[in-house]
Amino acid sequence: MRDASISLDTIRIFLHVLSVCVWVGGQFVMLALLPVLRGAGVEGLPKQAAQAFQRVAWPAFAVAFFTGIWNIFEVDMANTTTRYSVIFGIKFLLVVASGAAAWVHAVSTKPAIKGMTGGLGFVAGIVAILLGFALTHG
Ligand code: HEM
Repeated sequence: MRDASISLDTIRIFLHVLSVCVWVGGQFVMLALLPVLRGAGVEGLPKQAAQAFQRVAWPAFAVAFFTGIWNIFEVDMANTTTRYSVIFGIKFLLVVASGAAAWVHAVSTKPAIKGMTGGLGFVAGIVAILLGFALTHG
């Protein structure tokens, strides 16, 4: 019989996934809006929109990071397979790459660097989601 309840575990995973939705989902939205923002012909509008996204994206990344550490304390890591640890390790590296690439993307003034790091951060975040579900539903 499948049951449902809202426990502290539910809140932990809810906050982890919600913050990830903002971090990665927001990048999908920014990508979709960019051509429209550029086409509006308003000087600096894409940059203003990107800065507005950053004001929610970085707090979301921080919440994903801290709930991730909380996750580690709640998962009995001593009782996991080598494969679980390897997938967690790769996911953690991708999370760090996602954050670092997004930061370089935000501060760089070179279009080539901005483009490359924007793509890298985006893809790293998406693969981190897949590996996150591999950890919990694998
Ligand atoms: C952009 C950053 C991150 C993304 C996209 C992400 C994504 C995910 C997803 C989608 C899940 C599965 C949740 C579910 O099954 O409902 C998950 C679980 C997990 N994440 Fe993350 N995560 C991120 C950051 C982190 C960080 C920084 C850590 C560790 C420091 C971490 C540790 C974990 C752990 C241990 C689980 C398994 C939780 C459990 O089994 O209860 N995550 N993550």
